Amino acid sequence: MAITTIKGFKDILPREIETWQRIEMEARKVFRVFGFKEIKPPLMEKTELFKRGIGEDTDIVSKEMYTLMDSKGRGQTLRPEATASVVRSYIQNKLYNDNPVQKLFTIGPMFRHERPQKGRFRQFHQINAELFGDPGPSSDADLIIMAMHLFESVGMSELTLNINSLGCQDCRPQFREGLKSFLGQYTDELCSDCQRRAETNPLRVFDCKVKGCGEVVVNAPSVLDSLCNRCQDHFNTLMDYLTGSDISFTVNPMLVRGLDYYTRTAFEIQTDRLGAQNAVAGGGRYDGLVRQLYGPDHPSIGFAIGIERLVALLEEQNNFKTDSPDLFIAGLGDAASKKVFFWVHELRKNGLFVEMEYELKGLKAQMKRADKLGAKRVLIIGDDELASGKGIIRDMVTKEQGDIFLDSLVENLLSE
Ligand code: HAM
Repeated sequence: MAITTIKGFKDILPREIETWQRIEMEARKVFRVFGFKEIKPPLMEKTELFKRGIGEDTDIVSKEMYTLMDSKGRGQTLRPEATASVVRSYIQNKLYNDNPVQKLFTIGPMFRHERPQKGRFRQFHQINAELFGDPGPSSDADLIIMAMHLFESVGMSELTLNINSLGCQDCRPQFREGLKSFLGQYTDELCSDCQRRAETNPLRVFDCKVKGCGEVVVNAPSVLDSLCNRCQDHFNTLMDYLTGSDISFTVNPMLVRGLDYYTRTAFEIQTDRLGAQNAVAGGGRYDGLVRQLYGPDHPSIGFAIGIERLVALLEEQNNFKTDSPDLFIAGLGDAASKKVFFWVHELRKNGLFVEMEYELKGLKAQMKRADKLGAKRVLIIGDDELASGKGIIRDMVTKEQGDIFLDSLVENLLSE
């Protein structure tokens, strides 16, 4: 029986890879001008990092982590997200000593044991950006604008930015209590998970996908009605910055995000073209996380973009380009084919994407191959051409054909 990939894991095939590379290249370009530096934490961390960082009562930690035990029985987990890892590294390496405001990004795979569906995988990839050491709100706006810039630069414009404020340690407890007593009136209508969450972590109920729970929370008190003055000012100033930067957004008081570390600003960038998995990116402020993970009291904010979802959107938009050879050289007969072999390598050394046939083949077969590869031009060289010192060069788009001197062929082709 054939051996295939694990459920929820997928190959990223060559036809998609150019879009992946383009996204990563644009991300690096945009991040550079915003002053973000790349960091590469390991893919596996001590399980306690995620338990303490993300929250024991989140779906990610309670149900979705890939954890294995080492020989001493210590839990090690394939990272389900990157923020906790980047924070760990920020603390462990005292990165705050280099710069009071640290801006870091990382790109790579994450692992969550979720039920696979369209846009949801067990191994998926994120582009993460994290900004440490500033309480906002201008850094909140800066980060959100950076995310929107990136989407724009890869050609994605039809996205909705949803923002919310989840309050802070001063005002959230009161909202939490109010929400708890509200949910207490609807215990029978909540799913069994949310009956428990209503007690332990009531904000999580906003996140539940079960229909009955959704019907209950639409009438729940709004977090925005219970913000303290400082959180309200923070949120208002953020909105001013976004409006002043021509970034349109929707205020969504039901947006709580699936991780427990958020404080104040939470945001999601959504699309209506991916079915249930509508978030292409999500993030927010996490002012307490660095301290929670035994670091200094540094406020922070970040976001992550799901690469698979962005690739799917670009694919739908037909934004896929595949790289095709600049030139195909068709050698006919032994002597010409040998010459062709050396010319091909000389041209490649000079940065041209050149293809050839490995086996000896006739002109018809080679033209067919060049066409299939999408070669822009074909250079035909047989014994007659070798003898006359002139090859035939054919433009595969205009179908125009002409001669090219074989003497100093490489210089001739490169100078065009
Ligand atoms: P998240 O909302 O869990 O946030 O994930 C961010 C993005 O990753 C989602 O919007 C989605 O595009 C993608 N994603 C998540 N799970 C999957 C999946 N199973 N399959 C495919 N794509 C997925 C975080 O991970 C936070 N660490 C973001 C953050 C950074 N907050 C502050 N800094």
